[in-house]
Amino acid sequence: MIRPRLGWSLPRVFAHRCGGVLAPENSLAGLRIAARMGVRAVEFDVMLSADGSPWLLHDETLERTTDGSGRMCEANDATLRTLDAGAHQHPAFFGEPLATFESAALLSQRLGLRVNVEIKPATGFEAVTGAVVARSVRELWAAADLPLVSSFSEEALLAAREVAPELPLGVLHELPPEDWLKSVNRVAALSLHCNADLIDDAVLASARANGIPVLCYTVNDAAAAAALFGRGVMAVFSDRIDRVGDC
Ligand code: G3P
Ligand code: MG
Repeated sequence: MIRPRLGWSLPRVFAHRCGGVLAPENSLAGLRIAARMGVRAVEFDVMLSADGSPWLLHDETLERTTDGSGRMCEANDATLRTLDAGAHQHPAFFGEPLATFESAALLSQRLGLRVNVEIKPATGFEAVTGAVVARSVRELWAAADLPLVSSFSEEALLAAREVAPELPLGVLHELPPEDWLKSVNRVAALSLHCNADLIDDAVLASARANGIPVLCYTVNDAAAAAALFGRGVMAVFSDRIDRVGDC
């Protein structure tokens, strides 16, 4: 089996949802802050609108992180372009737009940030979200090293793999099941991503034996990150890039 590899070396720290808690999540402001903090890589979530366009959003609904309401998969692009996605975090971020995948991809490249794109499909939109993200990644990173693309949804990853066989993929499991390696192999993934609190040493040993890097979320202090690295975790996602600096 050929597992597409990264054209870049895996950094120790990915800023989670762009800039962690230092900026509105999944925002362009977060990318700027991550770059200013000296982080080399970021993770963000991508979901489709009702028009089938990819935008940065974590929840299936708009309320928590924007001044909009309702389901993302029922909101059209014209509406999404009017939303504020900053003021919920702090009034200083008022006017922050909801980020399109295109704007985040272009800004990341301009800032020299490596990216983990998490495909975040709304329920029922798994395959189409995987396919759209894969097609967009191909176009948006045509002149640069490809990002790492991950998802909790195997259906989304399989659709992405079909569209873009060259994509480096990561499989997300909150808690890796016993047969986690099979899920990694089914999509020819490069890496396993899981909850830092739930990873056990048997999984880490088996991952090491099979040459699969393990990445863990969400790690918000330096001592916890160091302990995970000591156990063989290759990288962490952090909301506190002010505490967990790049190594
Ligand atoms: O991709 C790592 C992490 O972001 C997965 O959890 O819910 O923050 O997207 P979540
Ligand atoms: Mg995520």
